[in-house]
Amino acid sequence: MKIPSSEITPEHVYRNRRQFMQAAAALAVGAVAAAACGSPTPTAEPPAPTRPAPGAAAPPTAGPLTDELGDPANTFEEITNYNNFYEFTTDKQKVAVLARNYPTRPWTVEVGGLVRNPKTFAIEDILSRFDQEERIYRLRCVEGWSMVIPWLGFPLRKLLEIVEPTSEARYVRFQSVLDPQRMPGQRNPWYEWPYVEGLRLDEAMHDLTILSTGLYGKLLLPQNGAPLRLVVPWKYGFKSIKSIVRIDLVAEQPSSLWMIAAPHEYGFYANVNPDVPHPRWSQRTERRIGEAGRRPTLMFNGYAEQVAALYAGMDLRKYY
Ligand code: MTE
Repeated sequence: MKIPSSEITPEHVYRNRRQFMQAAAALAVGAVAAAACGSPTPTAEPPAPTRPAPGAAAPPTAGPLTDELGDPANTFEEITNYNNFYEFTTDKQKVAVLARNYPTRPWTVEVGGLVRNPKTFAIEDILSRFDQEERIYRLRCVEGWSMVIPWLGFPLRKLLEIVEPTSEARYVRFQSVLDPQRMPGQRNPWYEWPYVEGLRLDEAMHDLTILSTGLYGKLLLPQNGAPLRLVVPWKYGFKSIKSIVRIDLVAEQPSSLWMIAAPHEYGFYANVNPDVPHPRWSQRTERRIGEAGRRPTLMFNGYAEQVAALYAGMDLRKYY
C-alpha cells in the first residue's frame, strides 16, 4: 500500500472499514506510579484514561483490529496523546501539543557506514519505494505501561539490502534529528543529544523489525516519530527510535542515549523480560493504557517464538 500524503482517515472510518465493532466502554480514571523512561530522576507516570480489562465487564468488541493474542488496538487518541519523546518534553501528555507543528518535510535519511552502496533517501522515495504493510504490535515501555499499535511500515531489512552491508558490519546505529532550536528538550543537558539507538545486525534483519511511516492507516504524526521511526516489538519501547535522519552500519556495538545517561540501568539489548527487574522496579507486570489493573508481562513481549533463537546461549541477566 502506498500512502498519499493527503490521506487523512478518521479512526472511526478506519475501524468501520475493517468491520471493527466499537462498543461503548465505561471510563474510569486510574493512576499508577512508575518512573520516567530511564530518567535518572524518577517522575510519576500521569493518569491515562482507562477502560475495563478484558474478561470482566469487557465490551463486546470483536473484529480484526487486534494483535495476534486477541487484544484490541489502543485508540488513535491514546496512541497520539500519551508519548515519550524527550526531545520535546518528559511530560507524556504534553508531547502532542509541543510537537504539533514540527516540520517533517523536507526530510532525508542518510544510510551509510560499512556498506557498499551508501545512499540518502528522501522520505517521498521511502514512501513510494517500499510497500507499506500493517503490523499490529504490542509496545511495552520500560516504565511498565504498554499499548497495542496498528503500525504501517516495512521491514528494515529491505532498506539495508539496498545499501548492501559489508562483511565487517555487525551492528546498526540509528540517529534522531538534532534540532535544539525547535526541540526544547534538547536543551536539557541531562542527555547526550541526538538520541541514538542500536541493534545487532541480525536483530535489524529480523522480519519483525520495521521502519514505520504511519499508524491507523495515516502518516505518522510528529509525536509518534514522523516521518520515520524504528519499531522493534520484542524490546522495550526506548529502542524504537523516532524521527530518524541517519542509519549507519558499524563494526562495534553502538552506545545509546540511555546507556550513556544511566549505564547501570539500561543495557544495549533491552529485550522485554519479566524475569529481569529494572534496578528501580519490577518488570513482572504492565499497565495496558486504557485498561484498569495490570497484566503479566510476557517474555520478549510475547514474541519469544519468533526471536528467542537470536539469543540462544546468552545470559539474559548479563546482556540486559
Ligand atoms: N525516540 C526519540 N528520538 N526520543 C525519545 O524520547 N522515546 C522512546 C521511543 N523512541 C524516544 C524515542 C520511548 S521511551 C518510548 S516508550 C517510545 O519511543 C514511545 O513511542 P510512542 O510515543 O510512539 O508510543
